[in-house]
Amino acid sequence: MKILFIGDIFAKAGRVILAGKLEKLKRAYNWDICIANAENSAGGKGITYNVAQEIFECGVDALTLGNHTWARREILNFIDSCNGLVRPANYPRGVPGKGRLIIDKNGIKLGLINLIGRVYMDQPAECPFLTADKEISILKQQCNAILVDFHAEATSEKAALAYYLDGKVSAVVGTHTHVQTADERVSNNGTAFITDVGMTGPAEGIIGVERSQIINKFITGLPERFKPANGRGCLNAVLITTDDTSGKAIEIKRVAEVYDI
Ligand SMILES: [Fe+2]
Ligand SMILES: [Fe+2]
Repeated sequence: MKILFIGDIFAKAGRVILAGKLEKLKRAYNWDICIANAENSAGGKGITYNVAQEIFECGVDALTLGNHTWARREILNFIDSCNGLVRPANYPRGVPGKGRLIIDKNGIKLGLINLIGRVYMDQPAECPFLTADKEISILKQQCNAILVDFHAEATSEKAALAYYLDGKVSAVVGTHTHVQTADERVSNNGTAFITDVGMTGPAEGIIGVERSQIINKFITGLPERFKPANGRGCLNAVLITTDDTSGKAIEIKRVAEVYDI
């Protein structure tokens, strides 16, 4: 099976790119399942019901989240009923939503797990390693392949999880930093990995935000309401191919498109 995983969709710019470009990319890459990280999809922070529907209508099958999961209060109204939406599985017990799901498409079942890191993330979370073990043990009997979106800041934590899960899942993809890394690989045991998939949104800001605001923030420390940057846009993703019988990854390819929008 072929899976397209799209890096953090940032604000309206990211959604405009998806609506305008995803169909053409699908003709070129012909994936079976498309997943996107959507933690920044509404105005750069969080997600709303309407924004989630808009992304699904572009042809995305499932959405993952991250440290901005709760940025919009209205998510509490729909997270439990929205089938294609997962938040980090290692969030504290009892919070709304789910951390894993099975995407069943054309007779292929892909297990999807979302996890959040604990290094420089400032979020209450259980151990992502032990949570991954638990979630995989539930999914592995029912799925042809398993993909983990590890939403984390530290490169080391992402690499450690990828090696910890080596041979147990088809792919570990990092999200959160908004900058695509060039370290994609498939291990000998058939696990694809990339430290960070990158971002889909404004290409000319600083991780999506207007440059001057981020620079001012570093110099003055004063609080400011961040605006998405203007200018060109980008779509960052990875295309992962797995063997349908074994679930092992065969290939991971980076996608990094830049558009005038
Ligand atoms: Fe993000
Ligand atoms: Fe994030």
